[in-house]
Amino acid sequence: MELEWSETALRVLEQRYLLRDENGNIVETPEQLMHRVAHGLAQIETVWGATSEQISSVEQDFFDILWKRDFLPNTPTLFHAGLPKDPKYRGRRFMSACIVLPIEDSIDGIFKTLWDAAKIMQAGGGVGYAFSRLRPKGSLVKSSGGKSSGPVSFMHIYDVMVDVVAQGGKRRGAQMGVLNVHHPDILEFIDAKKENTSGQGPLHNFNISVAVTEEFVQAYKEDTTFKLVAPHTGEVVGELNAREVMHKIAENAWRTGDPGIIFIDRINQLDYLDDGRIEATNPCGEQPLPPYGSCNLGSINLKHMLKKTDSGYQWDWEKFQRTIRLAVRFLDNVIEANDYPIPELEDYAKKARRIGLGVMGWADALSLLGIPYDSEEALEEARKVGAFLKEKSHLASQELAQERGVFEFYDQSKWKELGIPMRNAAVTTIAPTGTLSILANVNSGIEPYFALAFERKITAGTFHEVQPTLLDVLKERELYSEELVQRIIENEGKLRDLEDLPEDIRNAFPTAMEVAPEWHVRMQAAWQENIDSSISKTVNLPYQSTVEDIENIYLLAYELGTKSITVYRDKSLELQVLNVPSTS
Ligand code: CDP
Repeated sequence: MELEWSETALRVLEQRYLLRDENGNIVETPEQLMHRVAHGLAQIETVWGATSEQISSVEQDFFDILWKRDFLPNTPTLFHAGLPKDPKYRGRRFMSACIVLPIEDSIDGIFKTLWDAAKIMQAGGGVGYAFSRLRPKGSLVKSSGGKSSGPVSFMHIYDVMVDVVAQGGKRRGAQMGVLNVHHPDILEFIDAKKENTSGQGPLHNFNISVAVTEEFVQAYKEDTTFKLVAPHTGEVVGELNAREVMHKIAENAWRTGDPGIIFIDRINQLDYLDDGRIEATNPCGEQPLPPYGSCNLGSINLKHMLKKTDSGYQWDWEKFQRTIRLAVRFLDNVIEANDYPIPELEDYAKKARRIGLGVMGWADALSLLGIPYDSEEALEEARKVGAFLKEKSHLASQELAQERGVFEFYDQSKWKELGIPMRNAAVTTIAPTGTLSILANVNSGIEPYFALAFERKITAGTFHEVQPTLLDVLKERELYSEELVQRIIENEGKLRDLEDLPEDIRNAFPTAMEVAPEWHVRMQAAWQENIDSSISKTVNLPYQSTVEDIENIYLLAYELGTKSITVYRDKSLELQVLNVPSTS
């Protein structure tokens, strides 16, 4: 398989990842970057008594999977691994992409977390918060005799903070704001991004999600009301009709993509620590975490886990297992090597040792296997590959537990009940891999292709690209021509309806808009069966979809067992990261 970097990958590397000196000159090659990361994360094994021979062997293995892009850790790890910590600037070398901070119901609490979040943003991490503990708008503030302005008002302060802090950082950290559906301000929250159709309006530095409980879902099914509870007193202060609230969520998601939904009770029930403390997720939703939880993500490139045989592509299970084993070790090492901006994060990370190993290039792998994304066979394949990832990554964590000991909270975890010694409380997560997939030159996460020929808008500019796996296949089958690529671009990046192309290729390369919304949900659910944490996935809907279509998607997602659900209706925001070039 190809080892060169794509043009876009090189541009992204130069723009964001390669080290620069104080004059802004790049002082690192891509190869040196991967050596720096491999070296830093192998070196840390001295804390467990590794010899220098063992360390250099681990370093070589880490370098090999990074350099071949069989596995990549999340962006902050590529930024900071292998760099010396600077005691004057604690946390500047933070390597985790996912953090959840608590927001206590007091001015001290709200502004302490604002400060903590600013430190994390500076290092390129993303923060999720539940605003659910804040007293509702209009409640009495005893100390001043005034009235509280409510959770949504405080979210605006956090929003502005990101704008200001981001100017000094390498990437704009994203935020997730969650409110529990039983909070009395829930209607204001659901509408909080309603006017944000430009993607640049109020709360543009926030994704927002409603934390939906089992009680709410039952009320929805029975078409009855559910209670509103003031969090600071526990008093029931009102009730709302569940269907009306769900409809309002769907209406806003139809307009702008926000809010999403997280099934918070299910998340807590399925968590291996099972202490019911999870109230929020990280910004893109794949990582539910308790207060002060953080997680280091990493993704295996599934396209590279295939081997070519005389009868076509097949999974290279041996290579896959070897990569999983190294990746788990790598991510556990990140917890130790990390430079935490605030002590609470270090404390929790080292006690729970949550890591998030996931995948990218799922669409590419399916295409090479000749399986349409929207087919029962693809769901079966997702279950098979997911089960393998789960089994082998859990095994790798158990091996580490033998070497290094179990995580500190082990005795209070479900792992103990199951009698399985583990190094990490949770092991698998499927991240969006927005930038990583560009570096690896594959499609992001478990998403279908957005388009097979498209325009990509990134900080560095706008570029036209042809999907690399399609190019491989067209060239292999001697079908490639400039004229064909042009036709695909003119056909809004799609090829299923180009009838002169062989049927197997047309079937194996559907785009997100050609995949019916139900198949998006079914694919997310099929993967979720084997993933410890959650999955970042957007259900793409055609422009003509209705609010009712979205409500049905929510219900389907719940019934199929997903932990969260996010929809995006085509063209509903004026600013789309990826644009299918128009034919006009
Ligand atoms: O590909 P990369 O490692 O850069 O990131 P991703 O997989 O697209 O996103 C993983 C997580 O990083 C997100 O869920 C956020 O928690 C965080 N993130 C962020 O805070 N700000 C961004 N601009 C992108 C990602």
